[in-house]
Amino acid sequence: MLRVRPFAPNDLGAVVAIVKEALRENYPTSLYLDIHKWWRDGFLVAENMGTVVGFLASVMMAPEQSRILMLAVYQAWRRRGVGSALMDAFLNECALRGVKSVELEVRRRNQEAIRFYTRYGFQIAHVLPKFYTDGEDGFKMRRFL
Ligand SMILES: CC(C)(COP(=O)(O)OP(=O)(O)OC[C@H]1O[C@@H](n2cnc3c(N)ncnc32)[C@H](O)[C@@H]1OP(=O)(O)O)[C@@H](O)C(=O)NCCC(=O)NCCS
Repeated sequence: MLRVRPFAPNDLGAVVAIVKEALRENYPTSLYLDIHKWWRDGFLVAENMGTVVGFLASVMMAPEQSRILMLAVYQAWRRRGVGSALMDAFLNECALRGVKSVELEVRRRNQEAIRFYTRYGFQIAHVLPKFYTDGEDGFKMRRFL
């Protein structure tokens, strides 16, 4: 039922809606189109019977280093393996591209996401003091492939 595929510009509305619901952010649509342009295979959506229920957006930071910019699943779809399907597909893309390490930032209080990433072998590298605009600290997390 669940299918992970590369983002296409038609998915823009769905991705914006997920970001609003799951991350409470409202970024300009040009941001998503830029991310898509930079690394097409690193921007993935998960769809269930034609409806996009989650996505993962990333960039290449260096030839062997990628960074997850956003990963979000609609609240109603969580704990059903959608995030894992996205992460599995993403790590496959990374392996194909010769990526040796993946990094990301997460809010210090976001226990759900920290548990999810830890299960995937990510480790906290260091604290990012007041990383978020509301003053919350972040954690830099990293995983080697
Ligand atoms: C983090 C997120 C993407 C996980 O997506 P998901 O589809 O729920 O993940 P999965 O169902 O594949 O979960 C895989 C495993 O991660 C862990 N996990 C996921 N959510 C968890 C939670 N709320 N509490 C504890 N462990 C959790 C569990 O080990 C889970 O396996 P299990 O369900 O068999 O116990 C999702 O919670 C989300 O969209 N959160 C809001 C946005 C966000 O915080 N993104 C990250 C910002 S950096």
